Amino acid sequence: MALKITVIGTGYLGATHAAAMAELGFEVLGLDVVPEKIAMLAQGRVPMYEPGLEELLSRHVAGIEGSSGRLRFTTSWEEVGAFGDVHFVCVNTPQKHGEYACDMSYVDSAFASLAPHLREGALVVGKSTVPVGSAARLAAGLPEGVQLAWNPEFLREGFAVNDTLHPDRIVVGVESERAEKLLREVYAAPVGEGSPFVVTDFPTAELVKTSANSFLATKISFINAMAEVCEAADGDVVKLAEAIGHDERIGKKFLRAGIGFGGGCLPKDIRAFMARAGELGADQALTFLREIDSVNMRRRGAMVEMAREALGGGSFLGKRVAVLGATFKPDSDDVRDSPALNVAGQIHLQGGQVTVYDPKGMDNARRLFPTLGYADTALDAVRGADVVLHLTEWREFRELDPAALGEVAGARIVLDGRNALDAVKWREAGWTFRAMGRPRA
Ligand code: UDX
Repeated sequence: MALKITVIGTGYLGATHAAAMAELGFEVLGLDVVPEKIAMLAQGRVPMYEPGLEELLSRHVAGIEGSSGRLRFTTSWEEVGAFGDVHFVCVNTPQKHGEYACDMSYVDSAFASLAPHLREGALVVGKSTVPVGSAARLAAGLPEGVQLAWNPEFLREGFAVNDTLHPDRIVVGVESERAEKLLREVYAAPVGEGSPFVVTDFPTAELVKTSANSFLATKISFINAMAEVCEAADGDVVKLAEAIGHDERIGKKFLRAGIGFGGGCLPKDIRAFMARAGELGADQALTFLREIDSVNMRRRGAMVEMAREALGGGSFLGKRVAVLGATFKPDSDDVRDSPALNVAGQIHLQGGQVTVYDPKGMDNARRLFPTLGYADTALDAVRGADVVLHLTEWREFRELDPAALGEVAGARIVLDGRNALDAVKWREAGWTFRAMGRPRA
């Protein structure tokens, strides 16, 4: 008989994982402690913007016409315990307020709520990003006859559906052959398609996730450090990235210089990793991550200074600044630790009159930064602006017509904080174009 799967926590990770498991043919029950979220999901709707996720969900949520009916949602731990053979814990581990360490309270409370309802022989699988050592601690709290595995998730926002259905690797930390066997059954389809299946112990599985994110953060801060040097030496970081990327050992990806990384993962994961290494007495091994973090944060300030300079230096008081982009990356409505909003907020605090436009992130941005100005279109944001900042590389912004924008702008000055706009096109339309880490031209 096919395995029955539950997914605990229905954020980005959980909602996508639940829908993907149903797509693979399993009966799935998703749980969240927020009833409004469950009510939405039960109608096939997701509380965030993620391309393809609603379509995938609607194909399987029970009660939706034409669906497979394999996916249901609940708020009952009892129901989840009775239903599942394999329980995936997908709750989030945000950064603790005012500390580097991550907040394990959602994970701890999910395990505590689930434990009393688990059936003998059930497998609990942790997917959340946790400090190394958590799996061993959590395993000790599970009832007799229940096993734990750790199976980190590497999905990217904006590509969550594809990354979950076709992962570039599946990593499982296990302590028994049975746990491995069950997970091989769960992931038979992607493994059959060629996804590598890496079996290891708990600490290594936990570390794979934090070290992968640290590596990605390091690549971005490396190229941003090169951007700083290029700015000082009048070099071109975009050409430099292209040229070093031809070396396959370096590779082209994740070398886009700009205002740096944000979001709910990379910044907090490298900080939590440093905090955990400190607890383990291995803090020296990760002191370089402090530098990665500070290069990253410095780029936000560098963007503010580039804007100040473009406006003639001095104060932002009375200056109108258009900000294109609010989310931490395109194809997402996520504004958590968004470099774009951070830059917008800094300029606003210094007296600038900031108007933000983003294709999908407006509601979240308004909630987080209610005192910024907002416009419903890029054109309206640019209307009357003394300078235009391109801070999130949405396709919509690449397709803008600089000539049309030039007609409504107060001054034709555009600063590309993501190295994604076509400089030639903007300059031809009469704009002064500057980008981070590139010569002035
Ligand atoms: C990241 C990891 O990629 C993913 O594997 C993990 O599971 C979760 O964390 P995500 O947060 O969705 O995924 O975003 P990602 O695509 O990694 O981008 C992170 C940030 O880096 C964004 O703000 C992006 O704009 C920035 N970035 C990325 C750069 O500044 N330059 C680059 O070259 C690439």
